Amino acid sequence: MKHLLSLEKLARADMDQILAASTVVKQERGQETAQPLLGKTWGLIFSKSSTRTRVSFEVGVRELGGNALFLNANDIQLGRGEPIKDTARVLGRMIHGAIIRTFAQSDVEEFAEFSNIPTINALTDDEHPCQVLTDIFSFQEKRGPIAGKVVTFIGDGACNMPVSWIFAAAKLGFELRIAAPKNFQPAPDILKRAGGKIIVTEDLKAAAENADLLYTDVWISMGKEAESADRIRQLTGYQINQSLLKLARRDALVMHCLPAYRGKEIDEETFEAHAQTIFDEAENRLHVQKAILRWVVG
Ligand code: CP
Ligand code: NVA
Repeated sequence: MKHLLSLEKLARADMDQILAASTVVKQERGQETAQPLLGKTWGLIFSKSSTRTRVSFEVGVRELGGNALFLNANDIQLGRGEPIKDTARVLGRMIHGAIIRTFAQSDVEEFAEFSNIPTINALTDDEHPCQVLTDIFSFQEKRGPIAGKVVTFIGDGACNMPVSWIFAAAKLGFELRIAAPKNFQPAPDILKRAGGKIIVTEDLKAAAENADLLYTDVWISMGKEAESADRIRQLTGYQINQSLLKLARRDALVMHCLPAYRGKEIDEETFEAHAQTIFDEAENRLHVQKAILRWVVG
């Protein structure tokens, strides 16, 4: 049985397969011949807010012939303390696949272990694999192979987004630079587990130099709201803006997983100047996740 639980655990060959299939899935939209989810019900079990991930998966499941069942974790007994492994064993007897957005990575892993159905990580505190696969697809669509390129992440370098980027870098052979204040840098253990060429620095200007892609994410991830004031104080300055962009390659792309907070991790002018890329990236969630769904059931 296949799962997509993290980029750390996704083999390079599987990544290549999903990325290649995404191109075909995108081209074929509206004229799909294969309906690999026909007659199947996929559950989306979400403990955190979502616009893109929820809609792209619900639409994607339907376009592949299946039914999508959205379950807000607070509306089911899970939210009142029913153990994840019991929820998994019940749902595993009723639905055919699960897409989970939650806090602890271990919860998604436990669900996969006990449910006996294909399980996809739709964001945890540790990783956001569907987003980074989409980001790589989006980069390659515009600029060709990402191998050998320089990707620079600016902002909270310890949250789920940079961690998934870290595990992708080693596997796909691009250089990753992470510019973040000391308290927001990725744990050394993650860098060690990933390998590859990863530079972690407090110096965002050095990190942006000749980069092919400048990437950022919110300073306050879901679940970290209580730390808002302290995060804003420490992360102020770690922003993609016009002066930083001048240091990157002339044809550098600017991407953001969204939602974006103008004036924080990116300024309004840079966001709007790169809106085409950023919203292509958002749309690509649908195509890439359809390729992921096809891969997990294939
Ligand atoms: N980028 C992303 O995952 O967006 P949502 O939180 O809206 O799903
Ligand atoms: N790091 C962000 C990503 C949102 C898509 C969060 O976890 O809230």
